[in-house]
Amino acid sequence: MDTERFLRVAVGIGVEELVAPVAVWLAVGVVWLIFGQQSKAGMPTRQKERKESYPGGAENQPKHLVPSFLIQPPPLPLVQAGTAAAAALLLIALALAGGRPPMAIRIFFPSSTSFSTAQPSSTATRTSRQRRGFCCFCSSTSSAGAGDEVSSSSMMTVSITGATGFVGRRLVHKLLSEDHKVCVLTRSTSKASSVFPASRYPGVTVADKEGDWERCIRDSTGVVNLAGMPISTRWSPEIKREILQSRVNVTSKVVDHINSSDSSNGNGPSVFVSATAVGYYGTSETDSFDESSPSGNDYLAHVCREWEGRARQVKQEHVRLVLIRIGVVLGKDGGALAKMIPLFMMFAGGPLGTGRQWFSWIHLDDLVDLIYESLRNPAYTGVINGTAPNPVRLSELCERLGQVVGRPSWLPVPGLAIKALLGEGATVVLDGQKVLPARATQLGFSYRYPYVRDALKAIAKQL
Ligand SMILES: NC(=O)c1ccc[n+]([C@@H]2O[C@H](COP(=O)([O-])OP(=O)(O)OC[C@H]3O[C@@H](n4cnc5c(N)ncnc54)[C@H](OP(=O)(O)O)[C@@H]3O)[C@@H](O)[C@H]2O)c1
Repeated sequence: MDTERFLRVAVGIGVEELVAPVAVWLAVGVVWLIFGQQSKAGMPTRQKERKESYPGGAENQPKHLVPSFLIQPPPLPLVQAGTAAAAALLLIALALAGGRPPMAIRIFFPSSTSFSTAQPSSTATRTSRQRRGFCCFCSSTSSAGAGDEVSSSSMMTVSITGATGFVGRRLVHKLLSEDHKVCVLTRSTSKASSVFPASRYPGVTVADKEGDWERCIRDSTGVVNLAGMPISTRWSPEIKREILQSRVNVTSKVVDHINSSDSSNGNGPSVFVSATAVGYYGTSETDSFDESSPSGNDYLAHVCREWEGRARQVKQEHVRLVLIRIGVVLGKDGGALAKMIPLFMMFAGGPLGTGRQWFSWIHLDDLVDLIYESLRNPAYTGVINGTAPNPVRLSELCERLGQVVGRPSWLPVPGLAIKALLGEGATVVLDGQKVLPARATQLGFSYRYPYVRDALKAIAKQL
């Protein structure tokens, strides 16, 4: 859990709200230390004088109307400890707000270095009012890091293929909420206009003709390529061909438009983020894979290699290329969960096949943050696995899903039945791969949902 969220959960407030009270606490502590000491030093003399001057002795003195703790300072060690704690909290809060924490903080909290580069999810979704409120602290506390090159204020215009799909829709929302412009590159204006009606999405331009795609791409600062025919169907030779062609053709078209947009003169997009999939690595019950692992030798690995190969034809001397190998995306409105949740709700949920296959997943919000960060952060380049850092076996996913929706996960579906239904396409659910996001971790990308239980809980809350 990142520290911003930890604070929110543990104390119910975030960094911004923490700074003011802690600063006040610190100031009061310092004043108390200075004047409390003095008054403590003077106390015995004054008490002695009072006792001596009161006829009848100290026992008969009238009781103070004000409680003694308001008159006498608390014990010195308590004040010192409190003030030191306040100072430490203030430093942490300032460091978190400003990006890279100062050295002292990094020694005590080594993991806090992850705040330095990415600032992707929670930070990115802060309102501009919150960001403005903190800029004075940012400049005073942060030192240079990869993420410092990111210009959060620069407005982007992003052309997106597959914007009408499960991932694309959420990405469009995110970009618009951050005041960027979007051009939806689609095969069908009517579909795109029903997903993004002009009345509610004034920042969206829809393009479905070849010339319009070209114009949109030329006028964009970045391009995201998410188009592709869904793969979770029964595979016939024709379907297999279309799964491949839908990706390769759209990617080729986009790359051609980017390359002809004269990016060498500073025109056209400077970044191209293209989707691919963890299927690149093939499947295994025992091995784990990261970005340096070789490709597998099954059909999906072949598709991913071809898909990535076309994307790599972009002129990389002028355009930064990011290839995101996406795992199974978890969200309420699409992907695998949209098919599984109804079964669980009908008490018909359970693992598919043996349940021992690896399930390399990512929450939709994290994937969208990763794409967004790839668009704006020059440190993000090359292949990045779009998966959460804690993959699970399918049996665990089903068990957790059952828990969060309050249903049992007791009805396993035999592999044979799935093969009968999906043919060769059954491999999508019966075989998996354990994929680790080494690059995202190295870049300091901060996941909102590193654990599947939290991801599923968040999704179940929206049901
Ligand atoms: N969702 C996952 O779990 C997951 C996992 C790994 C990889 N990925 C990859 O990530 C990308 C986005 O995923 P998604 O779940 O958002 O996909 P999606 O919901 O299936 O949407 C993909 C979009 O691609 C376009 N498309 C569909 N069929 C096409 C065809 N035959 N030819 C050309 N374009 C076609 C459609 O846009 P228009 O109709 O507007 O043209 C569609 O909205 C896909 O490339 C997918 O393979 C997804």
